[in-house]
Amino acid sequence: MTDTAENLPKRTFAIIKPDAVRAGNTGNIIQRITDNGFKLRALKMVHMTRPIAEGFYAVHRERPFFNDLVEFMTSGPSVVMALEKDNAVQAWRDLMGPTDSTKAPKGTIRGDFGASVQENATHGSDSAENARIELSYFFNATEFC
Ligand code: RTP
Ligand code: MG
Repeated sequence: MTDTAENLPKRTFAIIKPDAVRAGNTGNIIQRITDNGFKLRALKMVHMTRPIAEGFYAVHRERPFFNDLVEFMTSGPSVVMALEKDNAVQAWRDLMGPTDSTKAPKGTIRGDFGASVQENATHGSDSAENARIELSYFFNATEFC
């Protein structure tokens, strides 16, 4: 499928973060994603450099946790993905659960695979517009299937 203004709102950007990759949960998380009706449209493993992680989380540059977050996101490989479903942004955030894994209910990805507010297993875009920006930050147009 080609990227048109019509199908982009059905897509979101997701990361399996370094904690979850390190713990061997990549396969379990992808299984949850496909079991919940998302189609994978792009996927690759990346070990983020400091500039890549800083650019990705630039919106949080002034937050007290920014440096720790960049250290964490560069601590090992991540898996980056384009997920497609109706209302993809909200559907993926619902499946992940709240940011803080210690407060995320069991049955959510962060509740089951995350450890803390920082090491929370996955990322999801927070709007369709940010999904578009984040997808193009990690993927070329030719990498979507
Ligand atoms: P994400 O962007 O990763 O999907 O997470 P989110 O929207 O639920 O949370 P956000 O506020 O955007 O925070 C981005 C990531 O920063 C880490 N964090 N650490 N130490 C802290 O208080 C703290 N707060 C947030 C988490 O890894 C969070 O996912
Ligand atoms: Mg966020």
